[in-house]
Amino acid sequence: MSKATVAAPANIAFVKYWGARDLARALPYNPSISMTLARAVSHSTVEAKSEGEVDEVLWAEEAGLAPAPPNFAARVLRHLAVLRRELGSHRGFRVATRNSFPSAAGMASSASGFAALTLAVAGALERTLPVAELSRLARLSGSGSAARSVLGGYVEWPRGEAENEAVAELLAPAEHWQLCDLIAIVERGPKEVSSLDGHQRAESSPYFQRRLELLGERLAGVRQAIADRDLDGLGPIVEEEAIDLHLIAMSSRPAIFYWQPATLRVLATVRGLRAAGVGAWSTMDAGPNVHVICRPGDEAVVAAALADTPGVESVFRDHTGNGPHGNVPPLF
Ligand code: PMV
Repeated sequence: MSKATVAAPANIAFVKYWGARDLARALPYNPSISMTLARAVSHSTVEAKSEGEVDEVLWAEEAGLAPAPPNFAARVLRHLAVLRRELGSHRGFRVATRNSFPSAAGMASSASGFAALTLAVAGALERTLPVAELSRLARLSGSGSAARSVLGGYVEWPRGEAENEAVAELLAPAEHWQLCDLIAIVERGPKEVSSLDGHQRAESSPYFQRRLELLGERLAGVRQAIADRDLDGLGPIVEEEAIDLHLIAMSSRPAIFYWQPATLRVLATVRGLRAAGVGAWSTMDAGPNVHVICRPGDEAVVAAALADTPGVESVFRDHTGNGPHGNVPPLF
């Protein structure tokens, strides 16, 4: 029996994946670009058992291993079946997962969780696969953003006309440019509408096609800003792009409202910081929490302003990270 443990980070998209041309395979309508985080990490230990043995899905808590919550376990079991098929294996797996960030804090963990699971399964089967293949396999979990979490630094996930082309590519490593991502947590608990439902409804918004038309310029702007380490060039595009995602969600049928009153208060705080000369820019995923991107030198002042904003429960401080690694103790 062989066992592998992997830590894989979450990522924050500067240009978002929103809307799938094939949801089951997480094939996107548009390319996306993200920054891999350092501290928001999922750990996964996978043991490959004998052929035909049943899978076991566990959740690692402070107190020890416990059965995973049913919804999470169901998605893991589905992905294990996909990985068996793709990797030509008949072995059962024992899996344990843990997040380094409070999972009740409303921070998305599917990208880091499925990237870690995919890499740990490959490790347990003693397969050394190219990163493009690992990205493709992570994407097949159904969490498309997991495709980007197999790499560190700044990552582009192209639309990919062929199945094996929709795989993440490195734009720049973490040491090229260190940025902070300060996450203002305004609500705990799972979101009401999953991103999977959001992708499915996106096409029903009258603004969906319009955003796709605007994306060519946006993607080029983000690539250039990363290459030039230009936060003043990056920030406005990132903020505009996040607003568009939510505009599409709110105008989908049926409509999806991810924002809470405190979300708007955080956006106002960020505009206030900029008015005071601090380079801080907001972005949001499919939820009410706000990610604020700033330079490391401004981290303390931005974190304090976010913490002082009514409705902010906590601020999770993160920054550009190096991507997955296996230098972690096994969970069992
Ligand atoms: O990977 P999914 O299916 O959870 O979708 C991710 C959607 C966003 O987080 C809103 C955007 C993105 O590109 O990460």
